Amino acid sequence: MHMMSTFVTSLLVVCSILLIVFRPTRRQRIPYPPGPSSSPIIGNIFRVNLAQGAWKVFAQMKEQYGDIIFLHGLGTTVLVLNSQKAVNDLLEKNGSSYSHRPVFTVAGELMGLDQSLVLIPYGKEWREHRKLANIALSAVSVQKYRAIQEELSALLNRDILEKPDDFFMHVRLAAARVVMSVTYGFSVHDSDDKYITHAEKTMEIVTTATVPGAFLCDLLPFMKHLPKWLPFMQTAAHGRNMVDTLVDRPFEQVKSELVSDQVSTGFLSIRTPSPVLQASGTAADSLAKDLFSIVENNPESEHRIKWILGTMYGAGGEATYATVLTFIMAMALYPEKQMKAQQEIDSVVGTERMPTIADLPNLPYVKAVIKETMRWNPAFPLGVARRSSEDHVYEGYFIPKGTIVMPNIWAIASEPNPKYHSREFIPERFMDPLITTVDPSSYAFGFGRRYCPGRFLAENSVSIMISTMLAVFNISPSPNQKLEPDFSQNMISYPKPFNCKIAPRSENSAKLILQRTD
Ligand code: HEM
Repeated sequence: MHMMSTFVTSLLVVCSILLIVFRPTRRQRIPYPPGPSSSPIIGNIFRVNLAQGAWKVFAQMKEQYGDIIFLHGLGTTVLVLNSQKAVNDLLEKNGSSYSHRPVFTVAGELMGLDQSLVLIPYGKEWREHRKLANIALSAVSVQKYRAIQEELSALLNRDILEKPDDFFMHVRLAAARVVMSVTYGFSVHDSDDKYITHAEKTMEIVTTATVPGAFLCDLLPFMKHLPKWLPFMQTAAHGRNMVDTLVDRPFEQVKSELVSDQVSTGFLSIRTPSPVLQASGTAADSLAKDLFSIVENNPESEHRIKWILGTMYGAGGEATYATVLTFIMAMALYPEKQMKAQQEIDSVVGTERMPTIADLPNLPYVKAVIKETMRWNPAFPLGVARRSSEDHVYEGYFIPKGTIVMPNIWAIASEPNPKYHSREFIPERFMDPLITTVDPSSYAFGFGRRYCPGRFLAENSVSIMISTMLAVFNISPSPNQKLEPDFSQNMISYPKPFNCKIAPRSENSAKLILQRTD
């Protein structure tokens, strides 16, 4: 009997060990999604350079591998979503599992960006930030910024009129001025002098550091403990300094202005909006003013507001700038489209005033030009990466927890269409009753729960800059220089430097620009 029980016990132990070692995991039964062939250990992840404009390569791979492409190696897994359906299925319908961001040890932890709404892990704190951002940037809230957006567009036109060859710089400044004024309520001159250059330098560092795989340390996080003199540690320390200044400096200024505006009341809760800020308040309308008026007065809320504002200010300008430059390039390449849009403005708005944001519903062709600009070269061609928070099986394929997920916005925007070539700039595709073309607002601003909260503000900025430029300027290629559409390969994709001629359409147009900015 004793021998029998020992035998049974031993058998059970051996079976348990065998079960643990050879446990049939989900992965053993279910294949990974398709992808390029791989080598042992390094897998296939180095077959595509993720840091350099991989969206076109991924779009081409779609023919071979289909809507989803899987890359893996060195413990990292990456899934590229090459169609609107895959994006909807994963990022929208399975939002609870696909709304995290990748962990960037260098950009997030070492530079401090994991406190910003863009990178903050999906969870309670993200929800708090997001709730405030959604209130401050709702379609209704942003209406109060229309006047400042129109004024800053007029200023952009004056700058271009005076120095047309510097249009890159003017557009960049205009996009930054809008975000600066809307975020903190600072006057334009303050924006120019103190903050914009710093913000641009910081964003250069940030956009480079947030490309998956930008630093080996992101793959091997223990490297963050290595000595501080190593080049990547120095880059991280410099980035941290820049980010801290970007977030702290304007915040301290706006806080002192707003607090002196409401000395006696303190910050008020979300349930009791501040009568002081709403009724009097010398400070201009701004996201800062809104946020200070709706949250409790405590250090935690203050820290949150500081980071929400810093994020808006950092995240808001670049994509607007990229979109308006893309429009200028398209107009230089497609004069007949430009002329058609100008004719529409002349007949609806007339030539005695500039278009306003309120005119846009009556300008369907101009609206189609704006949509086509966002489709032709989306500002974020590979979106902003996500990370899956649990194992998932999709269409018979296994997607492991922790996979970096990249929505290929460029591929979605370039879906073949039987009538209109995807690489041609054809605004008419959005007005054709016989063929449906998906509206870029459903992909250019991202997806699901992390959809861009600045969309309404951004759409107004882009629309007013584009429609006023169409109203008063003719954009044409530089004589004797062939213009080819060529875009940068970064996370935010801009036209590479190019020349073109931007001249007032008439003497009256030039007069209108000057009158508007007097
Ligand atoms: C043409 C201009 C813009 C474009 C094309 C754009 C596009 C995007 C995209 C693609 C994302 C990623 C969403 C996702 O993960 O699915 C995003 C996120 C974000 N955008 Fe924008 N954006 C623009 C302007 C703005 C502006 C003006 C602001 C602020 C004032 C802003 C604030 C943000 C923030 C805070 C996030 C992160 C949201 C989160 O992770 O929860 N963006 N944007």
